[in-house]
Amino acid sequence: MSALLLAVTAALAAVLQAQSLSPEEIFKRSEALQSWVIEQRREFHKTPEPGFTEYKTRSRIMRFLESQHIMYRYPFAKTGLVAYIGSGKPVVALRTDLDGLPILEPDGVPYKSQNDGWMHACGHDGHMAMLLGAAKLLKEASDQGELPPGSIRIVFQPAEEGGAGGDLMIREGALEDIEAAFAMHVMPHLSSGSIHTRPGTIMAGALSFRVTVRGRGGHAAMPHLNIDPVVAAAGLISALQTVVSRETSPLGSGVLSITMLRAGDAYNVIPDEVVFGGTIRGLTHEHLMFMKRRLEEMAPAVVAGYGCNATVDWRLEEQPYYPPTVNDERMATFALQTAATLLGTDQSQIAEPLMTGEDFAFFCRQVPCALLFLGIRNESAGSVHALHSPKFTLDESVLHKGVAMHATLAVEYLKTFAVAPDASSAKASASAATTTGGGGAAGDDEDEYDDDRVSKDEL
Ligand SMILES: *[C@@H]1O[C@H](CO)[C@@H](O)[C@H](O)[C@H]1NC(C)=O
Ligand SMILES: *[C@@H]1O[C@H](CO)[C@@H](O)[C@H](O)[C@H]1NC(C)=O
Repeated sequence: MSALLLAVTAALAAVLQAQSLSPEEIFKRSEALQSWVIEQRREFHKTPEPGFTEYKTRSRIMRFLESQHIMYRYPFAKTGLVAYIGSGKPVVALRTDLDGLPILEPDGVPYKSQNDGWMHACGHDGHMAMLLGAAKLLKEASDQGELPPGSIRIVFQPAEEGGAGGDLMIREGALEDIEAAFAMHVMPHLSSGSIHTRPGTIMAGALSFRVTVRGRGGHAAMPHLNIDPVVAAAGLISALQTVVSRETSPLGSGVLSITMLRAGDAYNVIPDEVVFGGTIRGLTHEHLMFMKRRLEEMAPAVVAGYGCNATVDWRLEEQPYYPPTVNDERMATFALQTAATLLGTDQSQIAEPLMTGEDFAFFCRQVPCALLFLGIRNESAGSVHALHSPKFTLDESVLHKGVAMHATLAVEYLKTFAVAPDASSAKASASAATTTGGGGAAGDDEDEYDDDRVSKDEL
């Protein structure tokens, strides 16, 4: 009897031993994958595709998943898919974006874009490659019985660059059963190989606008016979600079940028109308809604002074609203601790928020999440140019660290948030996991970020 008990205990210990795939071991295995991951990244780099049309990209991912015998479901959001590793609870998701940008890539690298006019200039090629590496590592570990109980979902989402592909993925059920999610974005302003994140808001909410100023065109030599929309638009553009500088707290963060302007086509003709557009950004929904309201109030009022009228259009079909990305407190802290264990305490830092938008924000409204930044700034690798620049260069030497970070987040999540054996305490701990953190950030502000609030009617 006691011999049997001993045998069982020993077997259990062996199982637990086998299950404890350590961060050090994950780091070693990720390093061994480095050249394979670089190769994947370069292949993705060759075929950047517009949002919701990432077909070649998806085929490459499917071929990879099939070669690894990883189950997946598709389509989600037209060109997205979700892959499945492990089984049961808890369920943690790792997410990558798939789309490229409408940027002409200059000559330079042998794996240059073969899709003229499109470029992976936001690192999504690297995000995909790192997640493929993590999926490979995790699947092999799963087959060896080295993973703790639970499931890992790899979420491949299209159309991050303005199409709100993440929102559509969720509407189509991609987050079903998922209890927490992590995503990583490469950042050329942060030193190579460092991980940065923060509890709470990490990226801004964003809205795009287009203003049409109407007057009455005519001969440029007889301005008194016309109503000039050019001067009115110029007055309005200047006046709009006061929304952030004069009407919001200097301690708050807001941006109102005008980026497009179109008037007439001839030197001697005053046009009938002027159209200009741009973006507003805010770290809270309220801040953004305030700027939105002031733009709507100012536009007709200011141009009325010049005898013109103006309409504001929020381009929602083309550029859907992106809410602020709000990291769950508990998940962000967990990610920082994981990064410190894996890469060293000096490589795990509290991030400053950025005014860029990110549609991982939609995931963070649904489940406790953390968006992480992976530094790629490296002078000797030429990795110093901004995201969305045609000169953008990704320091490939960090890719294995991203692989290790993804895989460690997944494994440590399954260990840390394991379902308790007793059903009632399991239920309690599960609800603690979703409410204490931010469940916290997302849950408490549910009204604020409610879908109705961001519907077309509201905006
Ligand atoms: C806007 O102004 C133009 C020029 O004065 C006028 O023709 C047009 O009817 C106005 N539109 C509205 C909606 O007031
Ligand atoms: C920077 O890039 C060089 C050349 O690619 C590489 O050898 C080095 O390890 C990188 N530095 C860091 C900190 O990643």
